[in-house]
Amino acid sequence: MTSTRRPLISGNWKMHLNHFEAISLLQKLSYALTDADHAAVDVCVHPPFTDLRSVQTVLDIDDIPIALGAQHCHDEDSGAFTGEVSPAMLAKLQVRYVIVGHSERRALFGETDAGVNSKVHAVLRHGMTPILAVGETLEQREAGATTDVVLGQLSAGMGGLKREQAAGLVVAYEPVWAIGTGRVASPGDAQEVCAEIRRQVGESFGSAAAESVRIQYGGSVKPVNAADLMAEPDIDGALVGGASLDADDFARIVQYRLAS
Ligand code: PGA
Repeated sequence: MTSTRRPLISGNWKMHLNHFEAISLLQKLSYALTDADHAAVDVCVHPPFTDLRSVQTVLDIDDIPIALGAQHCHDEDSGAFTGEVSPAMLAKLQVRYVIVGHSERRALFGETDAGVNSKVHAVLRHGMTPILAVGETLEQREAGATTDVVLGQLSAGMGGLKREQAAGLVVAYEPVWAIGTGRVASPGDAQEVCAEIRRQVGESFGSAAAESVRIQYGGSVKPVNAADLMAEPDIDGALVGGASLDADDFARIVQYRLAS
C-alpha cells in the first residue's frame, strides 16, 4: 500500500445471513470500528441481495460510514431475466461497489470474460464502482500460467474502458486456491501478481490510471495475515470472505495498521 491510494477493505458475505442477521452483524461491526478507522480506510460490506435494503436503511439512519456493496448483477437495466437483479436497482439502493467476475460466479454460474466486461461497463454506467475479480486456479499456478491467466482476465474485463474509468476501478486479485481454504498466498507472491496487474493497467491506460487503480488481495485474509499483505506496495486492500462474517475478525482486519 502506498500513501497515495486509500485502502479498501471489503467484506463479501456470499450466501450467508438473512436480513435480521445481516443487521446484527452490521451493528456489531459499526460498534467495533472507530472514527480513526474510517479516517484511514474505506470499508464496504457486500450482503446478499435480500439483505441490501435492510442494511442500507441501517447505514442511512445511523449514519454509519460503511459503503454498501453487491456481489453480482446483470448487465441490462431491466427486462425478462427471471431471477436477476439490475445495476439500476442496485444504484437506487445506494450501492457503491459491485463485485464482478468473482471466481465462484465464473466457475459455478458460467460467467465468461465477455460477460464480465459487459457487467463492468453496466456498473460504471450507473455510477457505481466495479470490483473486478481475477485469479488463477491451482492447476494454472502449478503450470506456471498465473500471470497469463490473471492478465488475460484483466484485459478482457477492462476492455473498452476510458482512462478515467480504469483509474477509478478496483481489481481484486484472488487466487482460486486461496479462497475459503485457509491457504493464503504469501505476501511476496500476492505482491508479484498485483505488481503485474498494475503494470498492465499502466500499459493499457497510462501511468495515472496505474497509480490510482486500487488492487485488493483476496483469499483467506484473516486478522493474523492482513498487516503483512497490506504492507506490500501494490496491495491496496482486501476482499474478505469467511472472516468478514465475524464482526471482531473483520474489524481487526480493517485495523491492520494497529497490528504490531
Ligand atoms: P475467503 O473468501 O476470505 O473466505 O477466502 C474470499 C472471497 O471469496 O472473496
